[in-house]
Amino acid sequence: MNSSFIGSHIIRLNSVGSTNTYLMQLLQEKDLQEGTVVITREQAEGRGQRGNKWISEAGMNLTFTIVLYPHFLEPAKQFGLSQAVSLGISDHLEKTLKGLKPRIKWPNDIYVNGGKISGILIENVLSGNKISFSLIGIGLNVNQTVFGEGVPNACSMRTLSGLEFDLEDCLSSLCACLERRYLQLKAGDVAGLEADCSERQIK
Ligand code: BTN
Repeated sequence: MNSSFIGSHIIRLNSVGSTNTYLMQLLQEKDLQEGTVVITREQAEGRGQRGNKWISEAGMNLTFTIVLYPHFLEPAKQFGLSQAVSLGISDHLEKTLKGLKPRIKWPNDIYVNGGKISGILIENVLSGNKISFSLIGIGLNVNQTVFGEGVPNACSMRTLSGLEFDLEDCLSSLCACLERRYLQLKAGDVAGLEADCSERQIK
């Protein structure tokens, strides 16, 4: 791993309903260190925004959830976390798909060349006026080349580049990019995140 805490502890599953739901349940049973990742080859009930499904071919893409403890963030400012995560994914894509420009469709989608490549499902659990923990669920299309009719307008790192990617390398790069942006948020550089987001946002 190129990161220091995001992805330093990884729980690997072959198949699960949803990594967000799994991690939510696990946290009822035991404490997990910040940055713990639950990743699976296959999700039977992958969840998207607004009750949508997230459909991803088994073993071809990244489907995972990270637990973070952003106690420094007021609940009213939780959009800062969405910005940090969107930028982290877009940094990873910019670095890996050289020359292509990822775009953020606020607040939860990443597009490249007009196709959706990644979706984000953030679930914040509050305790009083504090964020107790955040589950950052990420689906990133990596090596899938054929998408069903229910997934119009999808693309992957492979369809964009013609190259096949190692999922472990991809996860490692993504965790490092996400950690960098999360630390930027933690350091209070809201203006920097805002500026980078608006530069990459689909207007
Ligand atoms: C969206 O585009 O609507 C958000 C999709 C989020 C999908 C990811 S895949 C890993 C994690 N587990 C889920 O059930 N959903 C998120």
